[in-house]
Amino acid sequence: MSYETLLFEVRDAIAFITINRPDKLNALNDQVVDELADAAERVASEPAIRGAILTGAGQKAFVAGADIADLAKQGPFDGKARALRGQAMLRRFETCGKPVVAAINGYALGGGCELALACHLRLASETAKFGQPEVKLGIAPGYGGTQRLPRLVGKGNALQLILTGETIDAREAHRIGLVNKVVPAPELLAEAERMVRGILGMGPLAVRLALEAVDRGLEMTLDEGLLLEANHFGLLAATRDMKEGLTAFLEKRAPKFEGR
Ligand code: COA
Repeated sequence: MSYETLLFEVRDAIAFITINRPDKLNALNDQVVDELADAAERVASEPAIRGAILTGAGQKAFVAGADIADLAKQGPFDGKARALRGQAMLRRFETCGKPVVAAINGYALGGGCELALACHLRLASETAKFGQPEVKLGIAPGYGGTQRLPRLVGKGNALQLILTGETIDAREAHRIGLVNKVVPAPELLAEAERMVRGILGMGPLAVRLALEAVDRGLEMTLDEGLLLEANHFGLLAATRDMKEGLTAFLEKRAPKFEGR
């Protein structure tokens, strides 16, 4: 698929994905969602891609939400279908098995905040702003906000954002655990790349299974989650990468992981 609303560039194993509708503050219309779904599939399935960074074009917005012009036309059944399509796209990023970092360069509102929530780590510029303003429009979050936000920041903080529709700045987002780190705007992409490259230096199978254990484990009982973790721990003991990682430590050298 060739993209009209995204910039997609792979540099040294990282997919840099930029949502590129700056005149509409990178709002997620149906085309953006379809193209992001294709991009997520590429990240998940192409061996040459080992991690991804998502950001928005321009200085002002990461993504200012679902496209309100599209929403204005929808009825109950296409509304539900739209929510399911957006949710599936975000879930593909979340379960792609490779680190995905959101580099949040401005407004992350509604679907933009939900896009960031589906990424594994969130890095914000000092100028970023966050909110779930859907209730102001007579709708509720539809791309996972009611589910991922309370899991990330707790029920009280999530309900404050979802029920008031208020916008918070990057410092407040960091205080409540919505973002992992806040950096000056000019350093955002370099810092996101540094973050992903750091993870790419780790054992890729270990990273994949850790992502899976955290994602799946949150939906399990403690005992089920601990069993999943132990199974992963045992599985990794069968890999060359584990032997390489432990041997390299004992030999006081850097490991060379191969992903097997
Ligand atoms: N969907 C569609 N278009 C959007 C949009 C969205 N979610 N957010 C912004 N835009 C468009 C505006 O309509 C405007 O287009 P125009 O120039 O053709 O009129 C353009 O992007 C610039 O936005 P504008 O509102 O003029 O910028 P601003 O600096 O005055 O305000 C915001 C910025 C983010 C506060 C404001 O755009 C806003 O509230 N957007 C909607 C946020 C929202 O409710 N998102 C959740 C949707 S479910």
